[in-house]
Amino acid sequence: MEKFVVTGGKPLFGEVNISGAKNAAVAIIPAVILCDEPCQIENIPNISDVTLISRILQQMGANVRRINKSSLYIDPSQIRTRSAVTDLVRGMRASYYLLGALLGKYGEAKVAMPGGCNFGVRPIDQHLKGFEALGAETRLVDGAIIEAKCPGNRLVGTHIYLDVVSVGATMNIMLAACKAEGLTIIENAAKEPHIVDLANFLNSMGADIRGAGTDVIKIRGVGYLHGVTYSIIPDQIEAGTYMCAAVATRGCITVKNITPKHLESITAKLREMGVKITEYDEAIKVDATNVTLKRCNIKTMPHPGFPTDCQPQFAAMLLSVPGTSIINENVWDNRYQYVSELIKMGAQISVEGRLAIIEGGAPLNAAPVKATDLRAGAAMIIAALQVNGVTEISSIQYIERGYEDVVEKFRAIGADIKKVYYNGDNEESLGA
Ligand code: EPZ
Repeated sequence: MEKFVVTGGKPLFGEVNISGAKNAAVAIIPAVILCDEPCQIENIPNISDVTLISRILQQMGANVRRINKSSLYIDPSQIRTRSAVTDLVRGMRASYYLLGALLGKYGEAKVAMPGGCNFGVRPIDQHLKGFEALGAETRLVDGAIIEAKCPGNRLVGTHIYLDVVSVGATMNIMLAACKAEGLTIIENAAKEPHIVDLANFLNSMGADIRGAGTDVIKIRGVGYLHGVTYSIIPDQIEAGTYMCAAVATRGCITVKNITPKHLESITAKLREMGVKITEYDEAIKVDATNVTLKRCNIKTMPHPGFPTDCQPQFAAMLLSVPGTSIINENVWDNRYQYVSELIKMGAQISVEGRLAIIEGGAPLNAAPVKATDLRAGAAMIIAALQVNGVTEISSIQYIERGYEDVVEKFRAIGADIKKVYYNGDNEESLGA
């Protein structure tokens, strides 16, 4: 097994190059199934979720190979199956995009129920509602496999009003509707940057999608999608994570290769706290040196609101800010599982329903903690960086799902963090 060993107590200084967006990559890679020719996807993060979805496409017959650390070549033309029901598929939430892509390409799909980070119920009723509105029949087989089939093998465009603003359902319906007959309108659509990125990718292949990034998306079905080379957007959540770490340690870093507009709600909140933020075309400088930070309240909302995927990281950072800060988690039912881990470090934080009440300013203690999910794991690193001592973080496979070269990137800005292999008694440090 592996763990991170973090010796905290030092401010972070330097530059971080942000990688491609995980939540764009895990949708765009399966979207290649819709294409009738090979594609090259660039700025792909080297993370386990990308490895997993790539392997799933290979299992289905696609030729997928890494051209270099951040580029993938995918030829979908040899895919013969409409099924993705292996354990690999169960291993990640984004597997559900295979439903929309297979249904959109072949008019049928059979995909294992997705797994992924477990924080509360993660239904897919809106995805299925969209597929059925497009003319597919869907059913859940043995509670484990979702089958969707369109009687005439070609979906028919329609008007869908999502009951819930859902990133996954918006993207999945977009995928299914790409080659459907006629016009599909998605109302109450999610507006995250990765939704716009998926629409841009599909349009670059010859799809006809308008309105992505607004709450009304119109998709006019097309017959053929040609191969492209496409570079995905930077990861605003990865950037927000390093920004929180800089603030938590009262350091000063610059996050590079980003789109500042994608981080507006995060930079606005940091400015509200008194952090000095300087925005450039493709970078943001975060300076928390020699400032007295103010506590703040956070309410997570669909984009352009404050992103739920930065909620745990902000909670850990707010532990360093004197005063009472309140977090209101409005997207997920139970995204506070990390709180019990922070309490092991002496954090004064309590949860009341959707609220987390943080009494910041008290020093944290070193304690063995674990990552309960991807962003919770990032929060543990941010908490550990505040501690004058050595903190060990286990279950780091969650962190490595979504953060490329996380040890190297943190060490490059002065963090004392290393990955250690251990099996019970003995330990062996794995390089950085
Ligand atoms: C995506 O999950 C992201 N995952 C999540 O990021 C992110 O937290 C979430 O969007 C919100 O931004 C990927 O992109 C792979 P939703 P998704 O559908 O699509 C309810 C990370 O840390 N809902 O927008 O599963 C749902 O219960 C991960 O990178 C339904 O009720 O999220 C939730 O309350 C964690 N029915 C809300 O909508 C549905 O059919 C938002 O879910 C679908 C969703």
